[in-house]
Amino acid sequence: MTWTAASAPLGRRRITVSDRRTYGAYGVLVLADTNGPDPQPGQFYMLAAVERWGGGADERPFLPRALSVLRAEPGRAHFMLEDVGPGTDRLLELAVGDDVWLLGPLGQGFQPPEEGRRAILCGGGVGTAPLAILEDALRAAGTASVALLGFRDAPHAQGAALLGDPRVATDDGSVGHHGRVTELLSAELDADPHAVVYSCGPPPMLEAVRAICEARGVPAQLALESGMACGFGACYGCVVPTRDGSYIRVCVDGPVVDADRLDTALVAGAGH
Ligand SMILES: Cc1cc2nc3c(=O)[nH]c(=O)nc-3n(C[C@H](O)[C@H](O)[C@H](O)COP(=O)(O)OP(=O)(O)OC[C@H]3O[C@@H](n4cnc5c(N)ncnc54)[C@H](O)[C@@H]3O)c2cc1C
Ligand code: FES
Repeated sequence: MTWTAASAPLGRRRITVSDRRTYGAYGVLVLADTNGPDPQPGQFYMLAAVERWGGGADERPFLPRALSVLRAEPGRAHFMLEDVGPGTDRLLELAVGDDVWLLGPLGQGFQPPEEGRRAILCGGGVGTAPLAILEDALRAAGTASVALLGFRDAPHAQGAALLGDPRVATDDGSVGHHGRVTELLSAELDADPHAVVYSCGPPPMLEAVRAICEARGVPAQLALESGMACGFGACYGCVVPTRDGSYIRVCVDGPVVDADRLDTALVAGAGH
């Protein structure tokens, strides 16, 4: 079994916010994307608000912002956001009935585990987003999965409600395991290494996941982040180096890459 990346229709489409929800420190936007193809888990979209997408009359508009698809249902696409700057701040201001420009789904997503291996989903912060749609797809395929999520504190840990029954770690110990989510991952792989690890989160967490999996010979698929301007391969703003000495564009060759293609996952700056 393989999952195929969906191709975005040419051009951005104007669609409407049909619902919005709050999970502690995170907001979720539900968009009425009736004409878009079904995304592969791990694909992303470029979003921009139609109104007030930029500082003011004398300032240039913002670039669209890349967002992983959190969940897809017929005619609707969900996105999870953390307010980290002007773009996410404006998107989180949007109300039901407001319009956004949407381009996607874009990039290459996750692939299902090889026969017999179980799936371990390991996320940090807003990197939870692509793991929710992945969990939905694995459940639909009848594949067992375990989810491990790390957050900085209790308001952020409310994002864990977006997955089925995850185990949670928090930096401050306010919810679940007091420590790093990668400690939960090591314990899980020590108990049973016959698994595939799927991960998305801040680069230091992704790098720890990569190193843990490499040391144990466990395959891992990492959803990378990189600064993105276009999202479809034209600007080369998102290139990262690979182990074989070449470069990939995260927007078209990723964002999901096999961990064994990388010497390090500390390739993309800050990120999620
Ligand atoms: C494939 C992909 C999927 C993403 N999915 C989500 C998601 O589901 N939810 C979500 O909230 N965010 C997601 N992001 C991150 C989001 O696109 C950026 O944080 C975005 O720039 C935020 O815009 P802003 O104007 O709010 O903040 P900015 O002012 O653009 O950024 C705030 C800070 O984050 C840094 N930064 C911004 N983007 C990146 C990046 N891509 N890599 C490294 N550092 C960065 C900036 O340097 C700055 O310090 C994703 C990014 C990518 C590439
Ligand atoms: S964002 Fe433009 S090439 Fe990747």
